[in-house]
Amino acid sequence: MTVLGAIFLLAATSRQNAAALSLSLADPCTVSDFPALCRGTIKGQTNVNAATDVAIRELMKRTRQAKEIAEKELKRDGGVATCLSNFNSAFDNLDKALTNIKENDGFSLNINLSAALTDYDTCSDAMKETREINVIYKSAGVLYKMADNCLALSTLVKH
Ligand SMILES: *[C@@H]1O[C@H](CO)[C@@H](O)[C@H](O)[C@H]1NC(C)=O
Repeated sequence: MTVLGAIFLLAATSRQNAAALSLSLADPCTVSDFPALCRGTIKGQTNVNAATDVAIRELMKRTRQAKEIAEKELKRDGGVATCLSNFNSAFDNLDKALTNIKENDGFSLNINLSAALTDYDTCSDAMKETREINVIYKSAGVLYKMADNCLALSTLVKH
């Protein structure tokens, strides 16, 4: 077999096995920093790709809710604008992360999830500066923990 033939064969094989190669674990949440929150989110999912996907979708849902609250708060508190734009950015990054899972691209997945994590952190920092411990600050804290869990789960996704 030519070298080129071998490469094609290898590419075909890895493409075929992309889905089959995703790991299953009894409890993928053991790798996470907030396992109780993680377990409540992935609801018994054992396939690590599916678990990461579910955790990201749940985080997107919560981010959408936090955005709605921030939009209402914005009228009273201009400082919330930073959070609103960071929630929007996080949502986009999570959407990209879902594509990364589908493509078994663990490397891009890690970068896009890390970006979302930073977005929630930036919101928290902005709220801390205004010395306002408000509902947005609290949601950003939960969202941060959920993103941290997504990032931990994503390390189990094949690179
Ligand atoms: C994030 O995901 C998108 C879409 O899948 C990808 O094009 C992009 O390269 C990823 N970002 C990084 C920095 O890897």
